[in-house]
Amino acid sequence: MGQTVTEKILSAHLVEGKLVKGERIGLKIDQTLTQDATGTMAYLEFEAIGVDRVRTELSVSYVDHNMIQGDFRNPDDHRYLQDVAAKYGILYSPPGNGICHQLHVERFARPGKTLLGSDSHTPTSSGVGMLAIGAGGLDVALAMAGEPFPVAVPRVVKVHLTGTLQPFVSAKDVILEVLRRIGVKGGVGKVLEYAGPGVATLSVPDRATITNMGAETGATSSVFPSDEVTRQWFVAQGREDQWVPLAADPDAVYDEVIDIDLSSLEPLVAQPSQPDRVVKVREIAGLKVDQVMFGSCTNSSLRDIEAVANILDGRIVHPNVDAGISPGSRQVVAESSASGAFSKLVAAGVRILEVSCGACIGMGFAPPTEGISLRTINRNFLGRCGHKTGKVYLVSPEVAAASALAGELIDPRDLAQKLGIQSFRFQQPAALKVDDRRIQHPAADPSKVTIRRGPNIAPLPVMKPLGASLDGPVLLKVGDDITTDHIMPAGAKILPLRSNVPAISKHVFEVVDETFPDRALASGGGFVVGGSNYGQGSSREHAALAPRYLGVQAVLVKSFARIHLANLVNFGILPLVFQKPEDYDRIDRDDKLSLNVSKITAGGPFVVRNLTKGAEISCDTPVTREDLEVIAAGGRLNWVKGRKK
Ligand code: F3S
Repeated sequence: MGQTVTEKILSAHLVEGKLVKGERIGLKIDQTLTQDATGTMAYLEFEAIGVDRVRTELSVSYVDHNMIQGDFRNPDDHRYLQDVAAKYGILYSPPGNGICHQLHVERFARPGKTLLGSDSHTPTSSGVGMLAIGAGGLDVALAMAGEPFPVAVPRVVKVHLTGTLQPFVSAKDVILEVLRRIGVKGGVGKVLEYAGPGVATLSVPDRATITNMGAETGATSSVFPSDEVTRQWFVAQGREDQWVPLAADPDAVYDEVIDIDLSSLEPLVAQPSQPDRVVKVREIAGLKVDQVMFGSCTNSSLRDIEAVANILDGRIVHPNVDAGISPGSRQVVAESSASGAFSKLVAAGVRILEVSCGACIGMGFAPPTEGISLRTINRNFLGRCGHKTGKVYLVSPEVAAASALAGELIDPRDLAQKLGIQSFRFQQPAALKVDDRRIQHPAADPSKVTIRRGPNIAPLPVMKPLGASLDGPVLLKVGDDITTDHIMPAGAKILPLRSNVPAISKHVFEVVDETFPDRALASGGGFVVGGSNYGQGSSREHAALAPRYLGVQAVLVKSFARIHLANLVNFGILPLVFQKPEDYDRIDRDDKLSLNVSKITAGGPFVVRNLTKGAEISCDTPVTREDLEVIAAGGRLNWVKGRKK
C-alpha cells in the first residue's frame, strides 16, 4: 500500500513502537528550535538532564518573542540563551534577526526531516515538506539530549486543493476556510496533509501560512509535499543542495478527505475570540476599525508585505486607524526595502515595529479598551493581544490593508473596485538576499564557555513524587476551550518571568480569577475542573509547570488539547477525562475530592470521589503506563534522571 508524505517521514524516523493509528511511538528528531519565551526553561531543563552536547543534526535558539529591555531581566535571559547555545552546540539567532518560524523556513527547514519546536506554530516549517511538530520545552530538551519524541501516530487528513486563488484572496483565507469547516478541535490527533493540483499554485510562504495556522485546529502538524515550487525556494535561498522531492504515493490511503476549490474562496475573517469563528468579510463589513497589525509568524513574508504595499501604494492609512507591521526577518526587510514595498508602507503611515513577535502578544501594540483590532496573526484568544476587552479579528494581509485605508472592515475586492487597485500576483525572486552573519555558531571549545546567569535565572523547582492518594478542593472550575493564555498569560509583564517559576506562578489563571495563586497555595494544592479542549493554544509548558508549583495535582476535563496534555504529564499533574461529559455538572468549585492513586491504570477507568456531594465519578486516564510512571515520579525530568541512575 502506498504511503502519504506524513507516513513516509514517520517511517523513516520511527525508533520505538509501530505505525498503528493512535498508538504511541518514539520519533527520532533531526532538528529542534526554541524561542526565548519557552527557551530559557527548555535550556534549564536541558542542563538538568546532564548531557554535554546536543545530539540533534541541528538545533537553533531564537530570540524573537520579547525584546523589551525595560530592566535587566530580559537582556539577562538573552545572554543566558546565548551562552547555553555556545556551550552545548546550538545555533543562536539574536534579537532582531527574525521570528523563529519565518527564519527557520528561510534558512534551516529541510524536506523529509523532523523538527521539534518549543512553540505551537513550529509546523510552519512543514510548508517545505518536513514534519514539524510543536511541543513543550521539556520534550524539546529531551530531543536535544537524543531521546525519542513520544507522539501518538496521527490520522492523516488529505486536504485536496483544486483551482487557483482569485485576486485579493490569499493563503490566509485557505486556512481560515479549513478552520471554518473543522473548528479548533477538528485537527486533534491528525496531520492535515495538502495535496491536489492546487498545491502547485501556492508559493512556499503561502504554504507556510497555511501550516502555521493549522496549529489552530489542534492538529499535530500540517504538511505540504516538496515539489518544484519548493525546489525553487531552496534555490532562491542558496540551499538547493538541501532540497529533495517528497510526495505521497499515488495509491496512498488517507483517513479523511477535505476538498477545497481555491477558485471559490472569498476573503474571510475569524471573529473574537476563537480562530474558528470564521465568516465571509462581506457578512460583517462596515465594522469600524481602531487598529491594524500586519506581520507575525503567520503573514510576515516578502509576499505578504508586497501584497500590502500593492494596496497601500500612494494612499494613506485612515485617520482613526493605528497601523503597524512586525516583519518576519532581516531577509524580508532587506528584500522589501530593495523592492520599494517597505517604503510604501512607511509612506502610507504604517508604524514599523520590531522584527519580532512582540505585537502578536500585545507588547508594544495592544488594542484600546473595547477596541477593534484587525490582525494578520493566527490566534485571537481573550487577552492574548494585551487587553482583555480588545476585540481581535484575524484576516489576510489584503483584508488588513484595505481596512486600514477604509477605517472599517472591508472586502479588498470592493475597495479595489472603488479605488481602481490592480490585482497582485507575487513573483518569487530567483535569488533572495541571504545574510547569515547574525547567526552565531557554537564555541569551538565548550569548556571555555562560562554561562552567565543573571538573578532572574531561577533554579528549577524540585517536584515531589506523587503520593498514594490525592485529597483536596476544586480550586477552579472553568468551561470549554480554555487556552494556555487563560492558564498562563503572555505579555510584557509576564514574559520576563519565564526563567523564574516562583515569580511567574503568581499570574496563573489571573485572566479568569486573580485569587487563584493565593488560594492554591493556602489550600496546599488541589484540582482544576474544565470542559472540552482544555489547554488549547500555545506550547508553553509554564501552563503546566506553574500550576504544579502552586500545588495543582490533577486536572479533570471533558477533553484535552494535545500539547498541553503532554505538558501536564511532563510536570507530574494527573490528567483525567470524564467518562460521561455530563458528570462535569456534578462537581463545583470548592468541592472536596479524593483520588486513590494506587488504583490508577493507563487508560482507566478510574473513580474520583466527590466527598462534598457524596458522588463517585468515573474518569478515563488519557495516558500510557510510561506516563503514569512519569507522573508518579513527579514529572519527566525526575523520571529520566531516575532511569539514568
Ligand atoms: Fe511569535 Fe505570535 Fe508567532 S508570538 S511565534 S508571532 S504566534
